[in-house]
Amino acid sequence: MRAIRTALIGVGGFGKVHIRHLVELSGQGLLEVTAFSDINPDVNPEGWQQLLSLGGAPYSDYKTMLDRHPELDLVVIASPIPMHKEMAMYAFSRGIHVMIEKPPAVTIQDLDEMLRAQAGTSSLCQVNFQNTSGAAFRELLRIIQEGQIGDVQHVTGVGLWKRTQAYYDRTPWAGKLIHKGNYVLDGTINNPLAHLLNNCLLVAGSGNAEKSTPLDIQAELYHANAIEGEDTSCLRIRTQSGAIVHFYASLCFDAENIPSITVKGTQGEIVWTYNNTLDIRTNGSQSSSRSFATEDYVHNMYLNTLAAIQDESVVLLSSLQQCRNFVLAVNGAFESSGETHPISDAFLVRRNEGNTVFTGITGIGADVGRAAAEGLLFSELNLPWAVAGQLFSLDGYHKFDLFSS
Ligand SMILES: NC(=O)c1ccc[n+]([C@@H]2O[C@H](COP(=O)([O-])OP(=O)(O)OC[C@H]3O[C@@H](n4cnc5c(N)ncnc54)[C@H](O)[C@@H]3O)[C@@H](O)[C@H]2O)c1
Repeated sequence: MRAIRTALIGVGGFGKVHIRHLVELSGQGLLEVTAFSDINPDVNPEGWQQLLSLGGAPYSDYKTMLDRHPELDLVVIASPIPMHKEMAMYAFSRGIHVMIEKPPAVTIQDLDEMLRAQAGTSSLCQVNFQNTSGAAFRELLRIIQEGQIGDVQHVTGVGLWKRTQAYYDRTPWAGKLIHKGNYVLDGTINNPLAHLLNNCLLVAGSGNAEKSTPLDIQAELYHANAIEGEDTSCLRIRTQSGAIVHFYASLCFDAENIPSITVKGTQGEIVWTYNNTLDIRTNGSQSSSRSFATEDYVHNMYLNTLAAIQDESVVLLSSLQQCRNFVLAVNGAFESSGETHPISDAFLVRRNEGNTVFTGITGIGADVGRAAAEGLLFSELNLPWAVAGQLFSLDGYHKFDLFSS
């Protein structure tokens, strides 16, 4: 295997994680860092130096970088969400393979434009939904595909995390619906817990993208923090396979919970967690728990991308096409909710933590637990702050334009 000539766009933020992998993989001779780009040379001086010492040529303008290096095999795009489409399409036009951060695009029209631009080129596009790569998740899909729990009927994802105001202050697009005229739709479903939603959809279709297609959706999006976007959400998605996905997420929980997906089939039940574990109970058998060795999921994504570039029989773990269902679900959730509903102060707790502030929703852990157990949305639980969303059909849906003026 030859070393894959690689460039990185976005050196700060999550780019730091990518730099760690670029250092490791170049040390193993699997790739070489040809170039890198960031508009801000001061954003991560240590990472900048590491990339220079690997032989990478620095650029402030990513287009100039891609133009000057026709020898590039792969570009890793770790820039802010609204820039993904333009950057990926520019790489496709030069026949360069792409590994792009999630979400690949914000709107379904942008995603479709990217897919059209990719078609007819030889560029692969891996979306860094790294939670698709763990051994437990691959095993979950295998068990479901083998029919060990019968037909999948219900998929329930739960993700409860804690984020303080510092999280929203870290970058100008955090918590925004629109930033500099472009959609961001930042929030639980499109950003921090996007992995959970994406995996729920994959499970609903047993790993088959067509079967995972969302048909209609009912969603409720809320914010307890002073943001435009959402920090708390619940979704009900009916998919092509017949499986119903329920998804619950909040960043206003006063602890860090391990996100999980419960899959109920006609003949058993499986619980998967972000920690690479599975609990399996098939009808008539004892439940069994399986823990898989700790893995670096982003490392897995790199290995899969590098292998697919060299060998066309290798299937990408998370292709751009496969992520279309995720973008549809996110757009549909906003259409259904209509807006992000503020939660009144009466139901919130605010606390200074260091030099930032945490805003929590009183009782959110127990309420999510009850909603998930009963397959209900927050409004159906009659929570005093909840507002029902409309049932929104995604049949033929091809354009998101909810918040344009
Ligand atoms: N896979 C994961 O688990 C994970 C985790 C965190 C973030 N992310 C994703 O990573 C992406 C970046 O998020 P972030 O929080 O690091 O964002 P950020 O706002 O911190 O930006 C990342 C970097 O991009 C640079 N940048 C901005 N405009 C640029 C341009 N035109 N050309 C080159 N560089 C540019 C910024 O200077 C910054 O260094 C998002 O898509 C986010 O969803 C993924």
